[in-house]
Amino acid sequence: MSDIHELEKQILSSINEAGDLAALEKIRVSALGKKGSVSALMKGVGKLPPDERKSFGQQVNGVRQALDKALAEKKTALADAALAERLATETADISLPVRMGPLSEGRVHPISQCMEEISEIFADMGFSVAEGPDIEDDFHNFTALNIPADHPARQEQDTFYFPKRADGSRLVLRTHTSPVQIRTMETQKPPIRIIAPGRVYRCDSDQTHTPMFHQVEGLVIDEETHMGHLKWVLEEFLKAFFEVDEVQMRFRANHFPFTEPSMEVDIRYERSGREVRIGTGDQWMEILGCGMVHPNVLKAVGYDPDQLQGFAFGVGIDRLAMLKYGMPDLRDFFSADLRWLKHYGFSVLDVPTLAGGLGA
Ligand code: DAH
Repeated sequence: MSDIHELEKQILSSINEAGDLAALEKIRVSALGKKGSVSALMKGVGKLPPDERKSFGQQVNGVRQALDKALAEKKTALADAALAERLATETADISLPVRMGPLSEGRVHPISQCMEEISEIFADMGFSVAEGPDIEDDFHNFTALNIPADHPARQEQDTFYFPKRADGSRLVLRTHTSPVQIRTMETQKPPIRIIAPGRVYRCDSDQTHTPMFHQVEGLVIDEETHMGHLKWVLEEFLKAFFEVDEVQMRFRANHFPFTEPSMEVDIRYERSGREVRIGTGDQWMEILGCGMVHPNVLKAVGYDPDQLQGFAFGVGIDRLAMLKYGMPDLRDFFSADLRWLKHYGFSVLDVPTLAGGLGA
């Protein structure tokens, strides 16, 4: 019995004397590691006569706990000491001139640039920018958008779920920017005119899908807003964004739970070599979903659907960026390759404005 306490004393004193984290780790392994001295005692417990087993086991456990505690305390003390030493010895010369690098070398990512361009265009039409969290709850991402519990859209959207919380509910990485519609209506009084650009997440990855991508949501709520307004807003937006005089859009009937009627919109384009021309040619690219806000969505935020109505749309930003700037592969957007960024990126000082030109 006294052996155990002798061993404990020895280890505790070597913990106390350990000069750095590496030495401390060595002590931990030699005592509590797989082949450590205390672990060996633990293994011996099974071989003891039954009447001794329990009390010996408890003693060894007590030693383990004491050692764990001492190790943790020493670890904190060593880390604190190391930090204190760094703070005392390291200095920064804040009078040194700023390196020229970042301003002349750094580049704005095409997606950030497109978000700026989009915000600028919609600001000109009287829209403001709204935001919501990337981590959403079920109500905002689904239920309030008229996507009930057993609706297939929940599967279609390949949701990333967080582990269940105590009350059984699960948070999600938002699968679209549409929850920002709900958050905006919950906190603002109509008339509402907002866009909400941001990141969205779906459990999907191949040549044309990445698990994180970007959308911009649009929402207009008023007493007399109709589909003519929707069409006009989209047309003005696309002309300004692609910097062309004409765009041709194709509205296809579709289904989204949060709009009625719902449509998908394609734009006409053609590719010649590496160049993409918008407004001519015989190819169509689907770029957005839209429709008139469903009465159930208005009810979910406490609006009266007999008084208020409006339209909403959701656009894939990555696709727009690929079309506008001729970038062939979506995955390059997120590969953090500096050569790519240097080629396709934008100068920090080139802020997009409608008067000065959007994308340089
Ligand atoms: N949330 C849809 C999606 O991610 C896109 C969408 C469609 C947004 C229609 C809208 C809308 O606001 O009206 O697939």
